[in-house]
Amino acid sequence: MCRDPGGAADARPEPAEGAARPNPPTAEEITRYVVAEAVWAPSVHNTQPWCFSADEQQIRLYADAGRRLTAADPDGREMMISCGAALFTARLALRSLGYVPEARVLPDPGDPTLVAQVSWHEQAAVTEDERRLFSQVRLRRTHRGAFDPVPLSPKLLAALREGAARDGATLRIVTGDGQRAALAAVIETAERALRRDSERVQELVRWTPPPGSPRRDGVPATSYPARAEHTDPDFPGRDFAHGRGWGLPPLTTAPSFRTAGVVGLLTTADDRATDWVNAGQALQRILLTASTRGVAAALHSQPLELGWLRESIRTRFSDGGYPQLVLRLGTVIQVAASVRRAPSHVLLHSPRH
Ligand SMILES: Cc1cc2nc3c(=O)[nH]c(=O)nc-3n(C[C@H](O)[C@H](O)[C@H](O)COP(=O)(O)O)c2cc1C
Repeated sequence: MCRDPGGAADARPEPAEGAARPNPPTAEEITRYVVAEAVWAPSVHNTQPWCFSADEQQIRLYADAGRRLTAADPDGREMMISCGAALFTARLALRSLGYVPEARVLPDPGDPTLVAQVSWHEQAAVTEDERRLFSQVRLRRTHRGAFDPVPLSPKLLAALREGAARDGATLRIVTGDGQRAALAAVIETAERALRRDSERVQELVRWTPPPGSPRRDGVPATSYPARAEHTDPDFPGRDFAHGRGWGLPPLTTAPSFRTAGVVGLLTTADDRATDWVNAGQALQRILLTASTRGVAAALHSQPLELGWLRESIRTRFSDGGYPQLVLRLGTVIQVAASVRRAPSHVLLHSPRH
């Protein structure tokens, strides 16, 4: 389904101003606007494993199986989480125009790549919360490193937990030094195992373009630190630089006390494709909500790509809930920059090829 149309339509007009216009935007303008925002969702290794097709007042979001990580994500779980994040963003973009999105997740049992159908018919006033969330779609960045030693407000953590529940997922905050250290140790074990697996290493290398690359996908060298920042307990990040000296230089050379931040585990009660999509929707709501309060997130999926470690997290940290992602949350000065493919590369107009 998701064949790249080649960007022939890159000269398309910018997203519609939507509600600010005197005349209501056309369905085509709304579609372009929504897709241009949805592509800013987070995705594993910035694979952007999605494409969209549109049909009157309906947008279809497809998983692009050609962008699935075959070594790290054979079941497509992370691909579906990524698509879920794009779905949440598409729904929010429609809300930003005052439309009420009606979404059906995995509506066609015969086509598992059709992640969702989103249509819009009704209108309702945009709330201040929705406006704030939407304002973060393009500003939010994944953080990779330590955080400032500033505690997060219990009110924010409660809002994040409630937000996850709205999308059918659970955000568990991992508290207590022992539990935090134990989860950090699982991530370290995972990272060591991944670095020894040549197939996975080669896959990661393929998704980390060199500095200055014109590529609009993958994890750019402007988005990870050249030298790993350690915390206590230490939550090692992925080896994006792979000994090539790539990455951002440290902001300061002065040693400073920095922390791992608040550690959370995003889980779902079941482990079907719909749960993965819902986890992705919850993830994006969490990330955008945190971002409205100046809080960034570091994501760790390393142990969840190894069945035995995922099972160990499920039984030891999540009361049997299926772990979908480990997050660390905190405040930090962010300089990371990311990239996205042009909306015209992912928006296919005919419903079926
Ligand atoms: C399912 C999923 C898993 C991810 N796992 C990791 C991870 O293990 N390490 C990491 O640094 N970032 C991880 N990320 C973040 C992506 O790398 C990031 O979203 C992508 O590079 C785009 O950058 P941005 O979030 O700054 O826009 C993950 C994102 C998703 C959706």
